[in-house]
Amino acid sequence: MSHDQQSSMRDGDSTAGGPYGLDTYADHLAQLSMINPVTLDADLLAADGELLLAQGVVLDPVTLNRLKDKTLARPLAQVVSLASTISGEDLHQHLLSTIRATEYFQALAERKYPLCSLQPVCARLSELPLISQYLTVMSAQMKELYQRTLCVSLWALFIAQEMRLPVEDTGEVFWAAITHDIGMLHINSQLLNKTEHLTAEDWLCVQSHVDISRRILLGIPGVSAALIEAVSEHHERCDGTGYPLAKVESELTLFGQILALADSIVGIYTNRFKAQGRRWREVIPVLGLNRAAYMYRSCDIITNMILRSELPLSDVVSGNGVPEFAERMLQQNLQLQHWFAQLRDCLTAVGYTHGDRKLHALQNVMLHIATTFKGSMLFKEDLRESLESMAGEEGTSMSRVVADASLIQQEMTFHLQRLSRMIQMYISSDEAKDPKILARIEETIAKVGCYLRD
Ligand SMILES: [Fe+2]
Repeated sequence: MSHDQQSSMRDGDSTAGGPYGLDTYADHLAQLSMINPVTLDADLLAADGELLLAQGVVLDPVTLNRLKDKTLARPLAQVVSLASTISGEDLHQHLLSTIRATEYFQALAERKYPLCSLQPVCARLSELPLISQYLTVMSAQMKELYQRTLCVSLWALFIAQEMRLPVEDTGEVFWAAITHDIGMLHINSQLLNKTEHLTAEDWLCVQSHVDISRRILLGIPGVSAALIEAVSEHHERCDGTGYPLAKVESELTLFGQILALADSIVGIYTNRFKAQGRRWREVIPVLGLNRAAYMYRSCDIITNMILRSELPLSDVVSGNGVPEFAERMLQQNLQLQHWFAQLRDCLTAVGYTHGDRKLHALQNVMLHIATTFKGSMLFKEDLRESLESMAGEEGTSMSRVVADASLIQQEMTFHLQRLSRMIQMYISSDEAKDPKILARIEETIAKVGCYLRD
């Protein structure tokens, strides 16, 4: 995707000023219109005043085609209405269904959180028609994202309640969670569905959803600055490794940190655990390894909430599968050590006096990874010996220590992948200042690229 396409995509959201290009959101509306008619509330004018479509026209793939290459005087979302939109009561019912369908939420809700607190907080949707439109489009066009949004919102609300925040504040946290990813509806669908490796430019484009969400919310009357700030910060991390601004803990708001943690644990569970049939309880060791990225108080709260729900751990592997599992884990362990050493040596060798903020951030991530895993058993001789003995023995059982090491190993793979991609983005962003340093880093990335392709 070119820079032009990216900026046109960003122009398509609801912000002050204009003109507004047409982006993926227009496609979503036109497709939804086939089952839930999307009608123009007012004449649709081009940026130069030309009448493009008259009030009352139904937006569908044919009428949308007439708008090709046009720029609009107002964002499309502000000019259309849907025949049917999600109401506060619908949202309430969707949240209750999510709780019923999720073992963890069920256990949590039954023990502590009164479900009656959901209804009043959902009722606010009647005052926010544009958000209702976005949720309706998301629930039809990006179902998984909608389900995930509901999960994040429940977590964010429960964490805020556990912190005993005032009722108004728990509501703000909840609505920040409900709206945090609406910007995703403006990101090119082909890019989001891409199965091959994302380029640095692709990542930048996906990351722009944060700013798009922020700008949509800025245009909605009655949405507080605190809510918008929280949405802007939902991918920031306390240790400065987040985006878009790489803020650090002292620069982040409480609402933003609650949302960031809620979004992360749902991401960890959904993307990495759910498909393998693993349980919420297993999020805890992963969270423990990532504490520096999140507010410590939130981490403690969420760990206690999960432990209190008393959900069991699932077996990672048992019986005849153990030797093969141990052998695979051993090989991955050796690869990880090599990968880790390459990145560490490279980022240490370039020194710390270069004055390049982005490069410092990468070096901080490396230091954080090294510190996090130093205290773990991952690269210890004991683990290797246990794995070697399990690999050569049929019918052996897996110890809890090895099961935990397996989780930690996956976590380290994830961290090294993330760091390697951040380095790739740094190299291709034209922000690298020193050609010698750049050459050294490029050489390392070429060496570790094989792990990223796996
Ligand atoms: Fe996001």
